[in-house]
Amino acid sequence: MTRITVVFYSTYGTNHAIADAAAEAARAAGAEVRLLRIPETAPAEVVAGQDGWKAEADRAAAIPVVTPEDLKWAHGIFLASPTRYGGMASQTRAWLDTLGGLWMKGALAGKAITVAATAQNANGGAEGAILQTYVSAMHFGMIPVAPGYTDPVKFEDGGCPYGYAGRGGNPDEVARRSLAHQARRLVAIAAKLGA
Ligand SMILES: Cc1cc2nc3c(=O)[nH]c(=O)nc-3n(C[C@H](O)[C@H](O)[C@H](O)COP(=O)(O)O)c2cc1C
Repeated sequence: MTRITVVFYSTYGTNHAIADAAAEAARAAGAEVRLLRIPETAPAEVVAGQDGWKAEADRAAAIPVVTPEDLKWAHGIFLASPTRYGGMASQTRAWLDTLGGLWMKGALAGKAITVAATAQNANGGAEGAILQTYVSAMHFGMIPVAPGYTDPVKFEDGGCPYGYAGRGGNPDEVARRSLAHQARRLVAIAAKLGA
């Protein structure tokens, strides 16, 4: 069975919902799925000081934090993260920075990865956040699985060929179809790679 780790960081809940949608689609495609979160790095008083941030922290609390073993276990990784000033969220970057042990061993080499990101604005930098994440993944020898325009939904969802690049808020029906396509493609290519 193809094994997929869906991992997300989310401040306000969008990327949590994206990860849920991707996990559901990967399961429907026949994969064994782990849905996991990247740990928060902001001080607890900062999180508690914003209602939206605290609400998401409470929702995500039941989801286990991703470990290096969860990445080694997977044939493919679906990563979702918000955009911060045109790049990936610092929480996501900080987590990547903890994976040097896997990088040194080549433990992620040959595994498939696909990335989704959101921003407040249509052209606010989500594409850049996705590309940055692929660049880091390539340092691990991972294989980026971009959706390109391999499904008609890519002409409806804003058209980012690197991965779903969406807006903040609950994913709508088009977003869900786009994420499902991206997740199915990850499962199919991860199965072929078998790493
Ligand atoms: C510190 C900070 C920086 C942000 N930078 C950008 C940005 O550069 N462009 C943009 O369109 N949105 C930006 N946003 C909005 C977030 O990308 C948006 O809230 C996020 O995609 C929602 O995802 P989430 O609900 O999973 O946290 C920023 C938000 C914060 C808090």
